[in-house]
This record gives sequence, C-alpha cells and structure tokens, in this order.
Amino acid sequence: LRVFVPRDAAAVACGADDVATALAAAAKKAGVDVTVVRNGSRGMLWLEPLVEVEQDGVRYGFGPVAKEDVDGLVKAGLLDGKAATLSSPLAIGAVEEHPYMTRQTRLTFVRCGVTDPVSLEDYRAHDGYKGLERALGMKPIEIVEEVSKSGLRGRGGAGFPTGIKWKTVHDTPMGQQKYIVCNADEGDSGTFADRMIMEGDPFVLVEGMTIAGIAVGATKGYIYLRSEYPHAAIALNQAIAAAHNAGYLGKKIQGSDYAFDLEVRIGAGAYVCGEETSLLESLEGKRGLVRAKPPLPAHKGLFGQPTVINNVLSLAAVPYILDKGAQAYADYGMGRSRGTMPIQLAGNLKYGGLFETAFGITLGELVDDIGGGTITGRPVKAVQVGGPLGAYFPRGYFDTPFDYEAFAARDGLIGHAGVVVFDDTANMIKQARFAFEFCSVESCGKCTPCRIGSTRGVETVDKVIAGIEPEKNLAVIEDLCNTMKFGSLCALGGFTPYPVMSALTHFPEDFGRPATKLA
Ligand code: NAI
Ligand code: SF4
Repeated sequence: LRVFVPRDAAAVACGADDVATALAAAAKKAGVDVTVVRNGSRGMLWLEPLVEVEQDGVRYGFGPVAKEDVDGLVKAGLLDGKAATLSSPLAIGAVEEHPYMTRQTRLTFVRCGVTDPVSLEDYRAHDGYKGLERALGMKPIEIVEEVSKSGLRGRGGAGFPTGIKWKTVHDTPMGQQKYIVCNADEGDSGTFADRMIMEGDPFVLVEGMTIAGIAVGATKGYIYLRSEYPHAAIALNQAIAAAHNAGYLGKKIQGSDYAFDLEVRIGAGAYVCGEETSLLESLEGKRGLVRAKPPLPAHKGLFGQPTVINNVLSLAAVPYILDKGAQAYADYGMGRSRGTMPIQLAGNLKYGGLFETAFGITLGELVDDIGGGTITGRPVKAVQVGGPLGAYFPRGYFDTPFDYEAFAARDGLIGHAGVVVFDDTANMIKQARFAFEFCSVESCGKCTPCRIGSTRGVETVDKVIAGIEPEKNLAVIEDLCNTMKFGSLCALGGFTPYPVMSALTHFPEDFGRPATKLA
C-alpha cells in the first residue's frame, strides 16, 4: 500500500514529518505493509499536510492531517482498503477530481505532488526526460527555434522572450565557456512556485537546464538558490546525483557528444541578488552589487562569459515544450502571453496555493472564485500582483486578464505571478510606506534615486501620516516616484513607484484625499 505525505516545506511547516512518522508507526502496529512516499505538494496549501492513500490506482486525500488524527483515521480503516469510502471531516475524495485540481492546466507542475520527487525512475515513468531525448536528436539551433515558437517568456517577472535570449547566447562565438544560470532566488512576497517545483519535481529543472545547455553550447550550469530554501537544496542535490549516475548529466549525455554539468550554489539572503547582474556578482563570490547593462549577461555574464540566466519556471517549462512540441504549449494563453502560468495565491485568502492555468484568467476569478475570497470574511480591498514591487489593484480592476500587456496597460505587472490579497482593514498609506521602507532596506546602494530616494520616501510618507502639509508632501512623493522610476539602475528602485503610486491613485482616501469611484 502506498501512502503519500508531502516533503514540501509548506507541509513540513504544518507537521508533515510528524504525520509521516505517525503513519508508519500506526501501519506497523496494525500489521499493514505500507510504503510512505514523501511526495511534493499538490499546491492546495490550506489542506497541508495532505495525506493521500492509493487504492485501485486512485489517490484519496485527507487534509489537513495532524499527527493526533492518524490513529483515528487508521482505526477507521484508512489503511484497510476503506480510503475511498471513509467518512471523515478530513476526507476530500479523489485528489485528481478536486475542483481546485480539475480547473487547472498543469503543464509545468504536471508531476508535482504526483511522483516521488527524487526518484529518477518515477520521473521517467511520468514522461520525464522525453524532452531531452527529443532535443538530443535535434540541432542546437532547432532547439532554440522550438523554444522561440512556443512563445515562452521569462517567468521571473520581466517576460522577455526566452527564445531570443537563448538565440543571443547561441550566436556568440563557439569555443568559449558559456553558462546556464538558474535564478532560484525567489524573493517576491507571496511567491513559492520556484520552491514548490524544486522540492516537488527537481528533475524537471535539471532536464530544462540540460536542454538549455545543449541549445546554446554551454557545458556548465549553476542553480543560484536562496538560503531560505534548504529543503529545495536537498531535493536538487539528490536529483543532480541521480541524473549523474544515470548518464543524464556529465561528459557524454546519454552517449551523445554533449556535455553538461550542474551545481547548486546557495545565496546569502539579499533580495537584490535576484536581480540578474547582482546574482552573477554574488555567484562569482563578490558582494551583490548591480552591474550596469549593457553588456547583457547573454554577451558577458558569469565570469565575463556568455550566459543564459533564466528563472526556475522558465527552465522548468522547457521539457514539456520539447516533448510535446512548441505548438502544444503555444495553444494555451492569450495575446503575446502564451502557455501557462503557475499563479501563486497568497495573503488573506480562503484557498491559498498554487494554481497553474493558461494566461487569460481574470484577477476576479482568481481571487473571488478560486481563492474563495478572504479568510477573514471581510471584503477584498486591494490585491498586489507581482511581489513587493507590484501595483495594488482595486476591485474595479478585477476584470483584468492575467496577461503581461493587460497588466502593463493598467500600470501594473504580473511579475513572478504572486497574488497577495488584502481585506478592507488594510491601510494603503502604510503599504506605500512599506514599499519605500522595503526598498531602503534592500537597496544595493549603487545608485542615488534608489539609495537616497527610498529613505526620503519613508520620511515624506511619515509627514503625510502626521498631517504635516499633506498636499505639498504628496506632490514630493509623486516627484520622487518619477525620479526613481526613470533614474534607477535596476528594477528594485525603478519599480518601487508601482506600489506607491497605485496605492495613491486607487485608494486616495487613505492619503487624506477624496475617494475615487473605481476603488
Ligand atoms: P529586463 O527587462 O532588464 O530584462 C529581462 C531579461 O531579458 C534579462 O535577463 C535581460 O538580460 C534579458 N535581455 C534583454 N534584452 C536582451 C537581448 N536583446 N538579448 C538577450 N537577452 C536580453 O528586466 P530585469 O531587470 O531582468 O527583471 C525585472 C523583473 O524582475 C521585474 O519585472 C520584476 O517583476 C521581476 N522581479 C522578480 C522577482 C522574483 O522573485 N522572481 C523579484 C524582483 C523582481
Ligand atoms: Fe542598487 Fe537600487 Fe540602484 Fe538597483 S536601483 S542598482 S538596487 S541602488
């Protein structure tokens, strides 16, 4: 009998390790032969730890299970072929048929929660390495073209076409060391998709990076992982070792003439090290200071060599594209936003979790329908999409489809697709202050608008809160935002105006100005 208890950090934080131990002990006591598989999370975070019991090929879910629940469930027949019919307030029925699952289009996360994350055998049994096998039969430029045709855009936040980035590195002269760097420094508030996939299906990232290496002529890859993700580091290192042993990494990948090797490097916890040039500095062993662009990393990246830097989710989307073909991926989505996006629902929501779906779903559907509204039961006031540098949208913008251009047209951004919900108790001037404060704490200090502007921003918001010449100081804030937006070297200083200005524009009453209709 197979029983699944996630090893995902979110589940572990809710007691999954204790539940797994209790289940194994209860099974032993009951004399039932049980294999406890530590799978990834399905992404239904409100149900973690979600225990699944396999019966006749169907997996029945129970959650959230506490270790104290285990004896009762086992006595009721959990391990005796009664998982399907067991009446328990924790029973959710067949996991794959749960509405939260059936409404998704899981391309990147298709195996996450299903397989044993560190079993290469399980990965292969679920279509793993089919993308690489096809890539090995193609010319490198054909692989690059396939990725271009899929319409895949950078999932880290900027949405730059992945195929163009790869082509730039592919076209740099051969014979020099090129690198694939995976940006796994997921720092945005409310985001956890990178972590979930690295913990729940690390092979998909390893495979995606290997394909990228073959495509552009890079033989060495680094995963720059934030130190806050120790469980991901363990899963990745286990997957890399298994891929090595089976000839999927190393000097002659699967007997071909291609070589590719991979290692995990742990960052030290600075938000700005998620900015690609600062990440490269850190990877080279220096302080995480932003570099001026040009030169682009594609031309002069790690150790001054041509480098592809992609986010975890961009690279993890590649095996599907190579396996099923560019068109299969491009068939999903809207406008120039092709394929699917693993959206992370967080903040004050009833059903927080990971929801992978084609671009085009509206913000309102995500928040009210899939997320189930606020957990406090109070009205939604604002939704911040795209991390701490994303704009706050009011309910009046709930018809915005999840699409890079549609969000940009409303002075917002999708970013890494973190959706953080606030109810009507949120005070938006405090959120604006937080944006400036965050920037001042995380600034690398290289350029003046960000280093000085963020601190002046905090002081000026404080003056408005204290009622000191509010209109004059609001004008100073607007001016400061303009300077930061156009004068900063990187997105940290350049995007801080998004949360500040959207809070002021959509929720003026919190700044002592008359309310607008939209909010
Ligand atoms: P960017 O627009 O400067 O660059 C996007 C990417 O395209 C970079 O990798 C750049 O090197 C590459 N690129 C641009 N032109 C190219 C060309 N001609 N050939 C090849 N490559 C080219 O944006 P940036 O500063 O890299 O990212 C900003 C975004 O990061 C924001 O939109 C924000 O949403 C996101 N972000 C994400 C975070 C996370 O935790 N995932 C945290 C903070 C910000
Ligand atoms: Fe550094 Fe801020 Fe300038 Fe970016 S905007 S380079 S984080 S000082």
